[in-house]
Amino acid sequence: KQRVLTGITTTGTPHLGNYVGAIRPAIEASRDTNNESFYFLADFHALIKCQDPAAVHQSTKEIAATWLALGLDTDNAVFYRQSDIPEIPELTWVLNCVCAKGLMNRAHAYKAAVDANVEEGEDADKAITMGLFSYPVLMAADILMFGSNKVPVGKDQIQHVEMARDMAQRFNHIYCKKEPLLTLPDYQVDEDSAILQGLDGRKMSKSYGNTIPLFLPEKKLQKHINKIKTNLLEPGEPKDPDTSAVFQIWKAFATQEQTAEMRRAFEEGIGWGDAKKKLFALINEEIAEARERYEDLLARPADIEAELQKGAEKARAVSKPMLAQVREAIGISGLK
Ligand code: TYM
Repeated sequence: KQRVLTGITTTGTPHLGNYVGAIRPAIEASRDTNNESFYFLADFHALIKCQDPAAVHQSTKEIAATWLALGLDTDNAVFYRQSDIPEIPELTWVLNCVCAKGLMNRAHAYKAAVDANVEEGEDADKAITMGLFSYPVLMAADILMFGSNKVPVGKDQIQHVEMARDMAQRFNHIYCKKEPLLTLPDYQVDEDSAILQGLDGRKMSKSYGNTIPLFLPEKKLQKHINKIKTNLLEPGEPKDPDTSAVFQIWKAFATQEQTAEMRRAFEEGIGWGDAKKKLFALINEEIAEARERYEDLLARPADIEAELQKGAEKARAVSKPMLAQVREAIGISGLK
């Protein structure tokens, strides 16, 4: 069986990018009986970006409700909260001790933070925590703990999965002369929606404030879609689908046939208002039922919590023996 694993950081409200980049492919994968799925709420990762406890708490609830509302079958998939698995921070420390600092120096998120500081004439490390710097090590522990083979993610996370691979290799090289203990993971990226664009045409991201939340009430969803930036071409003027966020988001929700139709409509000069109305209808159709379940679940946090506890138990049935093997491999175990 293939182990499929992915996580979402519990900051903010889940948006269309999270949905097409991670949640939708993951739920699909969980229906394949050849797979064993591990999906989790990355709440330790949230602390890197958000130090508002109420916000982290709320986001955890919303993201959990999102997975459940979209039909994740928690009897099939293991659905848990990162912080319920104490073995993860322990493995993180062990990996910290095999991970070269130079590898972390190259991590995109850290480099972007340094570049921004330098650009503003500040000290390069201003406001950069050790959490941000070693973020990929915690993520490697998430992945390697469960022997993951496939990690469905958006393009922005590819580097982190490659780093996890690197750490697994180093660990195996140092400690597992006979048989490798850690499985080398591969990322899985859905090319049609690799990086979904946001309202301003940049990557849809909580940190850019350009997201379209997944479960907005209908009217608000329509309003958000109307805010997607477009050029000034009038109805009747041909439009270039390949440089349009409206078309790119369309593609992530449409069948191939619908995409071909919309491409033609662009070339024939569909008006932006029309194109956006169609986009709204397409997205709304895909998510309307789940939105109702979502609203309902949010009103029942105890039920969500019960699901997470069930998941934690199943996850720890894997993480405890795994950590015992890691401890044995590194020479930290009961004296003999
Ligand atoms: P996060 O919370 O930023 O994003 C969750 C998932 O959504 C994808 N994503 C997107 N995909 C397409 N287009 C977009 N605009 C877009 N924005 C976000 C992300 O690629 C991601 O797959 N570090 C991770 C969480 C994490 C994790 C892990 C993932 C922690 N441990 C282990 C996989 C395996 C993160 O911050 O994702």
